[in-house]
Amino acid sequence: MIRSVVRGFGIALPKRVLTNAELESMVDTSDDWIVQRTGIRQRYIAGEGETTASLGEGAARAALDKAGLTAADIDVIIVATSTPDNTFPATAVNIQNRLGMHHGFAFDVQAVCSGFVYAVTTADAYIRGGLAKRVLVIGAETFSRILDWTDRTTCVLFGDGAGAIVLEAQEGAGTNQDRGVLTTQLRSDGAHREKLYVDGGPSTTGTVGHLRMEGREVFKHAVGMITDVVVSSFDATGFSADDIDWLVPHQANKRIIDGSAKKLGIPLEKVVVTVDLHGNTSAASIPLALAAAASDGRIKEGDLVLLEAMGGGFTWGAVLLRW
Ligand code: UT7
Repeated sequence: MIRSVVRGFGIALPKRVLTNAELESMVDTSDDWIVQRTGIRQRYIAGEGETTASLGEGAARAALDKAGLTAADIDVIIVATSTPDNTFPATAVNIQNRLGMHHGFAFDVQAVCSGFVYAVTTADAYIRGGLAKRVLVIGAETFSRILDWTDRTTCVLFGDGAGAIVLEAQEGAGTNQDRGVLTTQLRSDGAHREKLYVDGGPSTTGTVGHLRMEGREVFKHAVGMITDVVVSSFDATGFSADDIDWLVPHQANKRIIDGSAKKLGIPLEKVVVTVDLHGNTSAASIPLALAAAASDGRIKEGDLVLLEAMGGGFTWGAVLLRW
């Protein structure tokens, strides 16, 4: 049985760090409030010349290096982003060109904070379906450019960055001991659209718009939705919470991360947290966290790794893979 195995990973972050203390001088907020309510201490903000594509390219190059591959070895590029540099062409095509890759194909996936889980699921389907041997999966965002910097309820939460992995087709035995993606679970429900959305777009206002969120409402749904897809992942593979070596959640809020881990029965020592450093980077948050734990030696070959996310739409999903 063909499995999609992680061959390499990499990240790119903007140069500029924005601390909670700096935000205190921009809106009516405090370091205490931000840390207590979210766990965020700083975030990276894209500066001049830094775009979703430039960050995505940086993460892609790092992932290719780690895998010992070049763009010539890649068949497909999938970029998860809700902050494309242009309405079209896709950011993925821009990154493809920046990598000097003129074969294969590239496209974007838009599922907001669940984007990386959606992109990995899509890549896995291409690989298992025999349409691609190696897929570069990138989560890249510049949410700073769609924030209302006068709205303290949102502007303190988000940051910019990119993370990437290379998924490669490898032969597995077809058991849950195989390396690679073991199951993917996706959900969406557009009834929740108004709780987290951008108030503009090419076909409505003709402008980019700003992010709007009823944070408390999103919070109320998050833990239940995450639990739903994680339990489905366990049902599909025969694993339980005790089998998980690392939970790598979407990094929106430390309280949501802790609440989900507690409800699932996964001890906090097994949870990768980077929200303190990056804030909420939407589709980039999982690959940023994955790379942090893989490069410092926490995630090792053979470990069972659970990814989960929930965000605008609402969309939510999980990926269970063996590293
Ligand atoms: O990434 C995908 C999805 N996004 C999320 O998962 C985000 C989910 N939501 C959250 O993380 C939390 O709801 C927030 C961090 C956004 C807010 O935390 P909360 O504990 O739900 O706070 P709240 O919205 O209930 O607000 C509590 C108070 C309010 O004041 P009053 O009405 O109690 O007087 C807010 O006006 O905190 C106030 N507040 C702030 N105070 C200082 C809101 N934002 C700030 C701020 N600084 N930045």
